[in-house]
Amino acid sequence: MTIVEACESKTNTTPAFPMGWYSVARSQELLVGEVKSVQAFDREMVLYRTRSGVPVLQDAYCPHLGANLSVQGRVVGESIRCPFHGWRYDTNGTCVEIPYSEEIPERARLRTWHCAEKNGEVYIWFHPENTGPEWDLPEFPELGDSKWTSPRYTEFLVPAHVQDIAENSCDPVHFQFVHKMMDVPPSKVTIDDDGRTLHLNSDATGADFPAELHATVYSPGFAMVRNTYGPDAQMVMYNSAQPINKHETRMRWTLVVSKSIEDIAGDDVMEGIISGLNDDYPIWANKVHKHRPVFCKEDTTLVMFRKWVRQFYLTSSDKQETA
Ligand code: FES
Ligand SMILES: [Fe+2]
Repeated sequence: MTIVEACESKTNTTPAFPMGWYSVARSQELLVGEVKSVQAFDREMVLYRTRSGVPVLQDAYCPHLGANLSVQGRVVGESIRCPFHGWRYDTNGTCVEIPYSEEIPERARLRTWHCAEKNGEVYIWFHPENTGPEWDLPEFPELGDSKWTSPRYTEFLVPAHVQDIAENSCDPVHFQFVHKMMDVPPSKVTIDDDGRTLHLNSDATGADFPAELHATVYSPGFAMVRNTYGPDAQMVMYNSAQPINKHETRMRWTLVVSKSIEDIAGDDVMEGIISGLNDDYPIWANKVHKHRPVFCKEDTTLVMFRKWVRQFYLTSSDKQETA
């Protein structure tokens, strides 16, 4: 008897969530005292800013009777108060007050996620075991520098796993087929000595709009692209991902350009990003994640990407990514 394997589907082949830094909000969207609901990593979370201005990200459901703290929960000083019976949790998740009881049970703790604020965004350090950050977030010095424009923003809800979106940066061939780019410039992928930061350099100095492109991928959900057109003519864009679940990822894009080229590159580049993502959309919305892709000899950068990405996973099944 021949055993026929089940067809791959969106649900039976997607890996877990890779560890790393991911954005959950833009700083400007979270005012002092504000409480928000965040969906990330297949969890419901509550995000709030304390009275002293610190962003805090915790599991949304109260350990008492399960009320959702992000719906009508209130910031009280450096803590959050549950809307159901008034239990209060501090920024470490310790219950610090039960209004009608002297005693606080030891298990009254709310899971708290490592959070940081930089580059105008609030980030979570995600690790499946919720252990502390293993590397620092990069900082983009162009933000707030007077030689650069103020940032332009856009964001997209992409129907794909965060790893599959990141894989695009190491996929030069798709630029020809999906983005209709006639002359895809030669590109090279390298990895830093630390093994973690991946770079893609491509030389498009022969193109209509000559540029040197340098993409830095810090982790599967965090990348920066720098286009250099001349000594004082550069553009920097970075994107940070918020994996909502295994099939949906919110991408936040931030763009700054040298002031000298704002009029020719500012809005046009942003429109270019949006139309580029629109090209990718139908592929992402309908593909499955290939756990064991069949690669051809020329797919060297994709093979490199698959080897690189293994380090962000804990379990062996998610690490078996390459052919
Ligand atoms: S459910 Fe939160 S205090 Fe009761
Ligand atoms: Fe693409």
